[in-house]
Amino acid sequence: MSQIGFYRDENYDLNVQGIKISSLAEKYGTPLFIYDASLMKERYNVFLDTIKEVKGNIHYAVKANDALSIISYFAKLGCGADIVSIGEFEKCVAAGISPKKIIFSGVGKDKDEIEIALKNNVLQFNIESEEELNDISEISSRLKITANICLRVNPDIAPKTHKKISTGEKETKFGIDLQNVKSIYKKLHQLEYINPIGLGVHIGSQIFDFNFFYQAYLNLKELADDLKFNGYKVPTLDLGGGIGIHYNNSIKPDFVSYKKIVLDLFKDSDYQLSFEPGRSLIAEAGVLITKVIRNKKTKDKHFIIVDAAMNNLIRPTLYDAYHEIEPIKITSINKVVADIVGPICETGDFLALDREINEVKGNDLLAIRTTGAYSSVMRSNYNARKDAIEIMVYNEKDFQIKKSETIKDIISKEKIIKFD
Ligand code: LLP
Repeated sequence: MSQIGFYRDENYDLNVQGIKISSLAEKYGTPLFIYDASLMKERYNVFLDTIKEVKGNIHYAVKANDALSIISYFAKLGCGADIVSIGEFEKCVAAGISPKKIIFSGVGKDKDEIEIALKNNVLQFNIESEEELNDISEISSRLKITANICLRVNPDIAPKTHKKISTGEKETKFGIDLQNVKSIYKKLHQLEYINPIGLGVHIGSQIFDFNFFYQAYLNLKELADDLKFNGYKVPTLDLGGGIGIHYNNSIKPDFVSYKKIVLDLFKDSDYQLSFEPGRSLIAEAGVLITKVIRNKKTKDKHFIIVDAAMNNLIRPTLYDAYHEIEPIKITSINKVVADIVGPICETGDFLALDREINEVKGNDLLAIRTTGAYSSVMRSNYNARKDAIEIMVYNEKDFQIKKSETIKDIISKEKIIKFD
């Protein structure tokens, strides 16, 4: 068996599962997302090991990457799912996840979505307001189908991550304010067709200081213990996702420290736990391969213009995110400092700024690393650009997992009005 993940061979060419990335780019074209199933499996198994001493289930946060083959592979490994729309629900079902393993999260479930999820016996709704509870209660009573309800708590914790992905502070739209949790939880017990099943928390994504997890989980546990002490049933706690991963080196996510926190707090408790990892299961299992179109040099700057753009990977623009970028074959030992940019007509269309990289020329291929999560899912057709091709390498073979999109496909989604 070859190495897990993307690695350099004896010629220093980038490979995955014994296959040269250059041959995959030649076969499928660029821009091209490549996912390594062996790394997904390794990450899943490590997570499983992390929680093996508590009663817990993994619900993959499909928002990280909702390609059917990716959901389906995690499902095959044993994962349930965490979803935030009925579209994601349908993708999970199509990929083989039973609704009984699907947690419906999200601050804005609309009434139609609630009805479909209820009729299909979704495992639970993680709700974020009393208003949402009222809507669910009205629908579940009308349908006479009981809804399992978990309250997502807003613990007012700022976990020192990028502002746009920090979700546990009271100014954000997420969760129920601490002071209202108990009264709403008690109300759950008075409603017909509502089954209270617990409390949940998710304070954000890309978190490295795990004291914030500890604080949030401790808050949750104390609330739950108190409710139980007062005679309310609180069988489950949902601990969300958010474990940080390293984009600038190959250090693995710190599951060891995470395990310690979970064990410290929950080893001897009765709570059934759920975990919603997204990024830490899939981010490192993806690369985006792009072709150099040309170098452009001005008096002040060097630009490497490539055929991937912010419509394929918006993270650098949106979150100032860093992704390693490297030639898949090293053809020059000279280093340059350049902005690596796409063809889109926006100054914000960049993949890296002032990046030191080995000199490259037109038609060379670059790998943009760690693009398994929140990359292809956030794509668009801006500038009438078609989607990148996506493949998965499984058991040392490559499989295309999405149809290649053509400009014709994009045009065919639209209708032209008849103007007299
Ligand atoms: N559970 C809930 C309720 C969430 O909102 C999220 C992520 C997760 C679990 C999974 O978190 P993870 O383990 O992946 O950190 N587009 C952004 C990330 C947005 C995260 C949204 N919520 C990015 O590219 O960094």
